[in-house]
Amino acid sequence: MVRICASSDLQERALAFRFVVQNGARERAAIALRYDGQVYAYINECAHIPIELDFNPGDVFDLSRQFLVCSTHGAYYDPTNGLCLGGPCTGRRLSPLTVIEKDEAVWLLEEK
Ligand code: FES
Repeated sequence: MVRICASSDLQERALAFRFVVQNGARERAAIALRYDGQVYAYINECAHIPIELDFNPGDVFDLSRQFLVCSTHGAYYDPTNGLCLGGPCTGRRLSPLTVIEKDEAVWLLEEK
């Protein structure tokens, strides 16, 4: 397990916590966020064009705080599973990361 951040860094439907995932020799930007009390994490890459979702760092929720939104063309995603519900990549998904919350911290479970 790799520690991402303190639990208190993720407030309900607030700014996402940006971190980096090591994928072999490649580093990939990622985000962790809290929605309905649960923690979720995704590779920070839109399913439309592989660029980061947030223009302002960590600002991934839409104005309603119900969806994650890409700041480039407005694709919006279900925060609980990364499914794109509308926009230019409807039906595609963000790449999820497996995270757990334990001992007041958020941890990334590394893929095998
Ligand atoms: S790059 Fe995200 S919607 Fe186009």
